[in-house]
Amino acid sequence: MSAAKARRNVIVTAAIAGLAGLLFGYDTGIIAGALLTITPEFNLNALQSGMVVGAVPIGAVAGAWFASRGSDRYGRRSLILAAAVIFTVGAIVSAIAPDSAILIISRIVIGFGIGVASATAPVYISEIAPANIRGSLVTFFQLAVTIGILVAYLVGLAFSDVNEGWRWMLGLGAVPALALFIGVLRLPQSPRWLIMEGRRDEAVAALKRVRPDGDEAIELELQEIKTSMTHGVETGGWKDLLRPAVKAALLVGIGLAILQQITGINTVIYYAPTIIQDAGIDSNSSAILASLSVGIVNVLMTIVAVRLLDKTGRRTLLFIGVSGMSLSLFMLGGAFLGDTGTLTTVVAILSLMLFVSSFAISLGPIFWLLNAEIYPLSVRGKAASAGTMTNWFFNFAVS
Ligand code: BGC
Repeated sequence: MSAAKARRNVIVTAAIAGLAGLLFGYDTGIIAGALLTITPEFNLNALQSGMVVGAVPIGAVAGAWFASRGSDRYGRRSLILAAAVIFTVGAIVSAIAPDSAILIISRIVIGFGIGVASATAPVYISEIAPANIRGSLVTFFQLAVTIGILVAYLVGLAFSDVNEGWRWMLGLGAVPALALFIGVLRLPQSPRWLIMEGRRDEAVAALKRVRPDGDEAIELELQEIKTSMTHGVETGGWKDLLRPAVKAALLVGIGLAILQQITGINTVIYYAPTIIQDAGIDSNSSAILASLSVGIVNVLMTIVAVRLLDKTGRRTLLFIGVSGMSLSLFMLGGAFLGDTGTLTTVVAILSLMLFVSSFAISLGPIFWLLNAEIYPLSVRGKAASAGTMTNWFFNFAVS
């Protein structure tokens, strides 16, 4: 196969696996809008509506924990397929839920699917990608998250005046999940996982589908996989996560997971309209426009990240992005110090945009990327799941 064709194949493979991010983005973006009509229909009190929202991140913690065992045992690809099925079932049941108990249970199921997918898809992409474009390809996952959020805003708008529109909003989540399932059925297994399983011939066949012709290059890559496999960590048990070779990496993964959430991105995603209204713009349509702009900026700047990650490097982008996030939060706080006026409104809108842009080129994609690529292969399933569980736990705690 020519180099151009191999490159195209690997990009398509990463894009299909990256669809997993749609599931999680769609749910993040849809629930606030859906809740507006679920609450009166099921007569939910504050605790119950909190449970409807929180069921997903809690389910996701459990899903990521399951992935810690399943990803190494059954392979990354099988787990993504399972996640798509679980999510589809959850989305359909939530759409036809007759009462709040079934709704909450189905949302735990949805969360479980999201947890499995988010712990596995970035690892799968990082293992199929050639090193020189790995950053860009894993960032397809984050790009899908942001597109999912944006599509959810639009679906929310479209069904906001429809009777029991929330059922459509939740049920339509099954569409990207089915697309993920059908797409992933055609993809190869992760070559690294196959090597770990001792299935060398299948690993060669998988690599041949996404690498240019040349037995030598493939042979070299197999060698490199073998040497990178253990890094002195042989058994791949939970205890191995505490070995010096893994501990430092795990600290980075878990640290980024916590920072990604406690810096408040989801507060902005959920409350952009409220912040804009507090800053002096009263109309509902402007508030909705604010959500849409946040969603669009998030997608566009993630595309910038896809282009920059392998050229500029993870560390530089983190520095730039996190500095931008800090600056924007000071600006936002400052805007609300004095009396509310036009200046407050302008500064508030600008700082929200700066915050989201800075997140989109740094903590957004880079957490998922590093969490998928920095661990030795023998413990990668477990370590990546630990980072993902932490991320979902703090997502829950903040929301
Ligand atoms: C985070 C999500 C967040 C999204 C926003 C992801 O990387 O994990 O919690 O909603 O980015 O784009």
